[in-house]
Amino acid sequence: MPPAIAYPPDPPPGNPAYPTPAQWGTGRARTDTGRRTTAQGIITRGTTNPNRLRRVDRWLAAHFGRLLARHDSPLVVDLGYGASPVTTVELRSRLATVCPAVRVIGLEIDPERVAVAQPAADPPWLEFRHGGFELAGLRPVLVRAMNVLRQYDESAVAHAWATMTAQLTPDGLLVEGTCDELGRLATWVTVSPTGPRTLTLAARLSTLDRPSRWAERLPKALIHHNIPGHPIHHLLSTLDKAWQAAAPYSVFGPRQRWLATVRSLIADGWPIPHEPRRWRLGELTIPWPLVSPTT
Ligand SMILES: C[S@@+](CC[C@H](N)C(=O)[O-])C[C@H]1O[C@@H](n2cnc3c(N)ncnc32)[C@H](O)[C@@H]1O
Repeated sequence: MPPAIAYPPDPPPGNPAYPTPAQWGTGRARTDTGRRTTAQGIITRGTTNPNRLRRVDRWLAAHFGRLLARHDSPLVVDLGYGASPVTTVELRSRLATVCPAVRVIGLEIDPERVAVAQPAADPPWLEFRHGGFELAGLRPVLVRAMNVLRQYDESAVAHAWATMTAQLTPDGLLVEGTCDELGRLATWVTVSPTGPRTLTLAARLSTLDRPSRWAERLPKALIHHNIPGHPIHHLLSTLDKAWQAAAPYSVFGPRQRWLATVRSLIADGWPIPHEPRRWRLGELTIPWPLVSPTT
Protein backbone atom coordinates (compact mmCIF):
# COMPACT_ATOMS: atom_id res chain seq x y z
CA MET A 1 0.00 0.00 0.00
CA PRO A 2 1.43 3.43 -0.88
CA PRO A 3 2.23 5.73 2.04
CA ALA A 4 -0.54 8.13 2.99
CA ILE A 5 0.26 11.74 2.13
CA ALA A 6 -1.29 14.37 4.37
CA TYR A 7 -2.94 17.37 2.74
CA PRO A 8 -2.97 20.70 4.52
CA PRO A 9 -6.47 21.84 5.49
CA ASP A 10 -8.66 23.10 2.69
CA PRO A 11 -8.19 26.86 2.18
CA PRO A 12 -10.99 29.15 3.30
CA PRO A 13 -12.75 31.15 0.55
CA GLY A 14 -10.97 34.31 -0.47
CA ASN A 15 -7.57 33.18 0.86
CA PRO A 16 -5.05 35.25 -1.13
CA ALA A 17 -2.64 32.29 -1.14
CA TYR A 18 -4.96 30.43 -3.52
CA PRO A 19 -5.45 31.48 -7.12
CA THR A 20 -8.52 33.12 -8.59
CA PRO A 21 -9.02 33.48 -12.39
CA ALA A 22 -7.35 36.90 -12.29
CA GLN A 23 -4.17 35.25 -10.98
CA TRP A 24 -4.02 32.41 -13.51
CA GLY A 25 -0.76 32.12 -15.36
CA THR A 26 -0.17 32.28 -19.08
CA GLY A 27 2.13 29.34 -19.80
CA ARG A 28 2.26 28.34 -23.47
CA ALA A 29 0.64 25.12 -24.74
CA ARG A 30 0.36 23.67 -28.26
CA THR A 31 -3.00 22.55 -29.74
CA ASP A 32 -3.72 19.49 -31.91
CA THR A 33 -3.18 21.61 -35.02
CA GLY A 34 0.15 22.97 -33.82
CA ARG A 35 -1.32 26.42 -33.00
CA ARG A 36 0.09 27.92 -29.81
CA THR A 37 -2.37 28.70 -27.06
CA THR A 38 -2.38 29.96 -23.51
CA ALA A 39 -2.45 27.34 -20.75
CA GLN A 40 -4.96 28.58 -18.20
CA GLY A 41 -4.39 27.91 -14.54
CA ILE A 42 -1.48 27.61 -12.15
CA ILE A 43 0.91 24.85 -11.10
CA THR A 44 -0.17 23.34 -7.79
CA ARG A 45 0.98 20.42 -5.61
CA GLY A 46 1.33 17.28 -7.72
CA THR A 47 0.23 14.79 -5.04
CA THR A 48 -1.16 11.57 -6.48
CA ASN A 49 -1.23 7.83 -5.74
CA PRO A 50 -1.69 4.65 -7.76
CA ASN A 51 -5.30 3.45 -7.79
CA ARG A 52 -6.47 6.56 -6.02
CA LEU A 53 -9.08 7.39 -8.68
CA ARG A 54 -10.50 3.85 -9.09
CA ARG A 55 -13.96 4.85 -7.81
CA VAL A 56 -14.44 7.65 -10.31
CA ASP A 57 -12.95 5.52 -13.12
CA ARG A 58 -15.30 2.64 -12.35
CA TRP A 59 -18.24 5.06 -12.40
CA LEU A 60 -17.09 6.66 -15.66
CA ALA A 61 -16.74 3.27 -17.34
CA ALA A 62 -20.19 2.16 -16.14
CA HIS A 63 -21.98 5.35 -17.17
CA PHE A 64 -20.21 6.52 -20.29
CA GLY A 65 -19.03 3.43 -22.19
CA ARG A 66 -21.90 3.81 -24.66
CA LEU A 67 -21.39 7.54 -25.01
CA LEU A 68 -17.72 6.97 -25.88
CA ALA A 69 -18.56 4.15 -28.28
CA ARG A 70 -20.89 6.47 -30.26
CA HIS A 71 -17.83 8.49 -31.34
CA ASP A 72 -15.47 7.38 -34.11
CA SER A 73 -12.33 8.37 -32.25
CA PRO A 74 -13.48 9.15 -28.70
CA LEU A 75 -11.13 11.37 -26.76
CA VAL A 76 -10.95 11.68 -22.98
CA VAL A 77 -8.81 14.32 -21.28
CA ASP A 78 -7.37 13.81 -17.81
CA LEU A 79 -6.64 17.32 -16.59
CA GLY A 80 -3.98 17.82 -13.92
CA TYR A 81 -2.53 14.30 -13.54
CA GLY A 82 0.13 15.41 -11.10
CA ALA A 83 3.71 14.39 -10.32
CA SER A 84 3.25 10.92 -11.81
CA PRO A 85 1.08 9.89 -14.80
CA VAL A 86 -0.08 6.72 -13.03
CA THR A 87 -3.76 7.65 -12.67
CA THR A 88 -3.96 8.61 -16.37
CA VAL A 89 -2.48 5.25 -17.36
CA GLU A 90 -5.11 3.57 -15.17
CA LEU A 91 -7.91 5.69 -16.67
CA ARG A 92 -7.01 4.61 -20.21
CA SER A 93 -6.89 0.91 -19.28
CA ARG A 94 -10.22 1.06 -17.37
CA LEU A 95 -12.05 2.93 -20.14
CA ALA A 96 -10.59 0.60 -22.80
CA THR A 97 -12.55 -2.27 -21.21
CA VAL A 98 -15.82 -0.55 -22.25
CA CYS A 99 -14.55 1.28 -25.35
CA PRO A 100 -11.34 -0.15 -26.86
CA ALA A 101 -11.07 2.79 -29.30
CA VAL A 102 -10.81 5.39 -26.55
CA ARG A 103 -7.86 7.80 -26.64
CA VAL A 104 -6.76 9.45 -23.40
CA ILE A 105 -4.63 12.58 -23.23
CA GLY A 106 -3.25 13.69 -19.88
CA LEU A 107 -2.84 17.46 -19.68
CA GLU A 108 -0.61 19.11 -17.08
CA ILE A 109 0.13 22.75 -16.60
CA ASP A 110 3.58 21.95 -15.23
CA PRO A 111 5.92 21.31 -18.20
CA GLU A 112 8.32 19.31 -15.98
CA ARG A 113 5.50 16.87 -15.14
CA VAL A 114 4.71 16.58 -18.85
CA ALA A 115 8.34 15.56 -19.48
CA VAL A 116 8.30 13.07 -16.58
CA ALA A 117 5.18 11.39 -18.03
CA GLN A 118 6.53 10.77 -21.56
CA PRO A 119 7.93 7.24 -20.92
CA ALA A 120 4.37 6.13 -20.02
CA ALA A 121 2.91 7.39 -23.32
CA ASP A 122 1.50 4.89 -25.84
CA PRO A 123 0.36 7.01 -28.78
CA PRO A 124 -2.24 7.32 -30.17
CA TRP A 125 -4.05 5.69 -27.20
CA LEU A 126 -2.30 7.51 -24.40
CA GLU A 127 -0.45 10.84 -24.59
CA PHE A 128 0.75 13.53 -22.23
CA ARG A 129 0.76 17.20 -23.19
CA HIS A 130 1.07 20.66 -21.72
CA GLY A 131 -2.25 22.42 -21.16
CA GLY A 132 -4.69 24.00 -18.74
CA PHE A 133 -8.41 24.68 -18.42
CA GLU A 134 -8.56 25.61 -22.12
CA LEU A 135 -7.71 21.90 -22.75
CA ALA A 136 -4.98 22.87 -25.24
CA GLY A 137 -7.62 23.20 -27.97
CA LEU A 138 -8.63 19.51 -27.71
CA ARG A 139 -12.27 18.47 -28.21
CA PRO A 140 -12.92 15.61 -25.76
CA VAL A 141 -16.09 13.66 -25.01
CA LEU A 142 -15.15 13.44 -21.35
CA VAL A 143 -12.84 15.40 -19.07
CA ARG A 144 -11.76 14.02 -15.72
CA ALA A 145 -10.30 16.71 -13.42
CA MET A 146 -9.71 15.20 -9.99
CA ASN A 147 -8.04 17.05 -7.13
CA VAL A 148 -7.27 20.04 -9.33
CA LEU A 149 -9.74 22.76 -8.29
CA ARG A 150 -9.29 21.81 -4.65
CA GLN A 151 -6.23 24.05 -4.63
CA TYR A 152 -7.98 27.05 -6.19
CA ASP A 153 -10.22 29.68 -4.69
CA GLU A 154 -13.93 28.93 -4.89
CA SER A 155 -14.35 32.00 -7.11
CA ALA A 156 -12.34 30.17 -9.80
CA VAL A 157 -14.78 27.26 -10.11
CA ALA A 158 -17.46 28.72 -12.40
CA HIS A 159 -14.88 30.09 -14.84
CA ALA A 160 -12.89 26.85 -14.87
CA TRP A 161 -16.05 24.79 -15.47
CA ALA A 162 -17.19 27.12 -18.27
CA THR A 163 -13.74 27.12 -19.92
CA MET A 164 -13.48 23.32 -19.87
CA THR A 165 -17.07 22.56 -20.91
CA ALA A 166 -16.82 25.01 -23.83
CA GLN A 167 -14.28 22.59 -25.34
CA LEU A 168 -16.44 19.46 -25.05
CA THR A 169 -18.22 17.70 -27.89
CA PRO A 170 -21.93 18.68 -27.84
CA ASP A 171 -22.79 15.53 -25.84
CA GLY A 172 -19.65 15.76 -23.70
CA LEU A 173 -19.28 16.01 -19.92
CA LEU A 174 -16.80 17.20 -17.34
CA VAL A 175 -16.30 15.18 -14.15
CA GLU A 176 -14.63 17.31 -11.49
CA GLY A 177 -14.02 16.32 -7.91
CA THR A 178 -11.88 15.41 -4.95
CA CYS A 179 -10.81 12.30 -3.07
CA ASP A 180 -8.64 11.31 -0.13
CA GLU A 181 -5.04 10.12 -0.47
CA LEU A 182 -5.94 6.46 -0.95
CA GLY A 183 -9.20 6.96 -2.83
CA ARG A 184 -11.45 5.53 -0.13
CA LEU A 185 -13.58 8.65 0.04
CA ALA A 186 -14.43 10.56 -3.14
CA THR A 187 -16.96 13.02 -4.52
CA TRP A 188 -17.41 14.49 -7.97
CA VAL A 189 -19.71 16.76 -9.92
CA THR A 190 -20.79 16.03 -13.49
CA VAL A 191 -20.96 19.24 -15.50
CA SER A 192 -22.36 19.71 -19.01
CA PRO A 193 -21.94 22.87 -21.13
CA THR A 194 -25.24 24.07 -19.63
CA GLY A 195 -24.16 23.60 -16.00
CA PRO A 196 -23.78 21.04 -13.21
CA ARG A 197 -26.05 17.99 -13.34
CA THR A 198 -25.23 15.61 -10.50
CA LEU A 199 -23.12 15.12 -7.39
CA THR A 200 -21.77 11.64 -6.69
CA LEU A 201 -20.59 10.47 -3.27
CA ALA A 202 -18.47 7.29 -3.25
CA ALA A 203 -16.73 5.47 -0.41
CA ARG A 204 -15.20 2.24 0.70
CA LEU A 205 -18.07 1.34 3.00
CA SER A 206 -15.98 -0.83 5.33
CA THR A 207 -14.02 2.27 6.41
CA LEU A 208 -16.88 4.80 6.39
CA ASP A 209 -17.78 5.68 10.00
CA ARG A 210 -20.51 8.18 9.02
CA PRO A 211 -21.67 9.83 5.78
CA SER A 212 -20.71 13.34 6.89
CA ARG A 213 -17.07 12.18 6.39
CA TRP A 214 -17.64 13.19 2.78
CA ALA A 215 -17.70 16.81 3.98
CA GLU A 216 -13.86 16.76 4.06
CA ARG A 217 -13.65 15.82 0.38
CA LEU A 218 -16.46 17.74 -1.26
CA PRO A 219 -15.80 19.42 -4.62
CA LYS A 220 -14.64 23.03 -4.32
CA ALA A 221 -18.11 24.26 -5.42
CA LEU A 222 -19.63 22.76 -2.25
CA ILE A 223 -16.97 22.41 0.42
CA HIS A 224 -17.41 25.89 1.88
CA HIS A 225 -21.21 25.52 1.90
CA ASN A 226 -21.38 22.65 4.35
CA ILE A 227 -22.93 24.83 7.04
CA PRO A 228 -26.38 24.68 8.65
CA GLY A 229 -29.10 26.07 6.40
CA HIS A 230 -27.37 25.02 3.19
CA PRO A 231 -28.57 22.11 1.01
CA ILE A 232 -25.33 20.08 1.14
CA HIS A 233 -25.31 20.30 4.94
CA HIS A 234 -28.95 19.19 5.01
CA LEU A 235 -28.12 16.21 2.79
CA LEU A 236 -25.12 15.08 4.85
CA SER A 237 -26.97 15.54 8.17
CA THR A 238 -29.96 13.58 6.84
CA LEU A 239 -27.62 10.81 5.65
CA ASP A 240 -25.94 10.75 9.07
CA LYS A 241 -29.29 10.36 10.85
CA ALA A 242 -30.40 7.63 8.45
CA TRP A 243 -27.02 5.87 8.83
CA GLN A 244 -27.42 5.99 12.61
CA ALA A 245 -30.96 4.60 12.40
CA ALA A 246 -29.69 1.84 10.10
CA ALA A 247 -27.03 0.72 12.63
CA PRO A 248 -28.82 -2.61 13.29
CA TYR A 249 -28.11 -3.56 9.65
CA SER A 250 -24.38 -3.55 10.46
CA VAL A 251 -24.65 -7.17 11.51
CA PHE A 252 -25.20 -7.95 7.81
CA GLY A 253 -22.25 -5.75 6.82
CA PRO A 254 -21.70 -2.08 5.88
CA ARG A 255 -23.24 -2.55 2.43
CA GLN A 256 -26.62 -3.50 3.91
CA ARG A 257 -26.40 -0.57 6.28
CA TRP A 258 -25.72 1.78 3.37
CA LEU A 259 -28.60 0.33 1.29
CA ALA A 260 -30.95 0.87 4.24
CA THR A 261 -29.63 4.43 4.58
CA VAL A 262 -30.32 5.28 0.94
CA ARG A 263 -33.77 3.65 1.01
CA SER A 264 -34.68 5.67 4.07
CA LEU A 265 -33.70 8.87 2.25
CA ILE A 266 -35.93 7.92 -0.66
CA ALA A 267 -38.78 7.01 1.69
CA ASP A 268 -38.44 10.52 3.13
CA GLY A 269 -39.15 11.92 -0.33
CA TRP A 270 -35.66 12.67 -1.70
CA PRO A 271 -35.93 12.28 -5.51
CA ILE A 272 -32.87 10.08 -5.92
CA PRO A 273 -32.55 8.03 -9.13
CA HIS A 274 -33.06 4.30 -8.56
CA GLU A 275 -29.57 2.80 -8.95
CA PRO A 276 -29.32 -0.08 -6.45
CA ARG A 277 -26.34 -1.59 -8.29
CA ARG A 278 -24.39 1.63 -7.76
CA TRP A 279 -25.53 1.98 -4.13
CA ARG A 280 -24.16 -1.52 -3.47
CA LEU A 281 -20.74 -0.21 -4.53
CA GLY A 282 -20.91 2.52 -1.90
CA GLU A 283 -22.06 5.25 -4.28
CA LEU A 284 -24.92 7.71 -4.33
CA THR A 285 -25.62 10.04 -7.24
CA ILE A 286 -27.82 13.02 -6.46
CA PRO A 287 -29.41 15.52 -8.87
CA TRP A 288 -27.50 18.80 -8.57
CA PRO A 289 -30.56 20.95 -7.70
CA LEU A 290 -30.78 19.04 -4.37
CA VAL A 291 -27.33 20.27 -3.30
CA SER A 292 -26.79 23.43 -5.32
CA PRO A 293 -25.49 26.22 -3.04
CA THR A 294 -28.15 28.76 -2.22
CA THR A 295 -25.66 31.60 -1.77
C1 LIG B 1 -3.11 17.19 -6.58
S1 LIG B 1 -2.57 16.90 -8.24
C2 LIG B 1 -3.82 15.74 -8.73
C3 LIG B 1 -3.26 14.56 -9.47
C4 LIG B 1 -4.31 13.53 -9.90
N1 LIG B 1 -5.32 14.11 -10.74
C5 LIG B 1 -4.94 12.88 -8.68
O1 LIG B 1 -6.11 13.17 -8.40
O2 LIG B 1 -4.29 12.09 -8.01
C6 LIG B 1 -3.09 18.42 -9.08
C7 LIG B 1 -2.35 18.65 -10.39
O3 LIG B 1 -3.13 19.52 -11.20
C8 LIG B 1 -2.26 20.38 -11.89
N2 LIG B 1 -3.03 21.55 -12.32
C9 LIG B 1 -3.51 22.55 -11.54
N3 LIG B 1 -4.20 23.42 -12.29
C10 LIG B 1 -4.17 22.94 -13.55
C11 LIG B 1 -4.72 23.41 -14.76
N4 LIG B 1 -5.45 24.52 -14.81
N5 LIG B 1 -4.49 22.69 -15.89
C12 LIG B 1 -3.75 21.56 -15.85
N6 LIG B 1 -3.21 21.07 -14.73
C13 LIG B 1 -3.43 21.76 -13.58
C14 LIG B 1 -1.18 20.68 -10.90
O4 LIG B 1 -0.02 21.18 -11.52
C15 LIG B 1 -1.00 19.33 -10.20
O5 LIG B 1 -0.01 18.58 -10.83
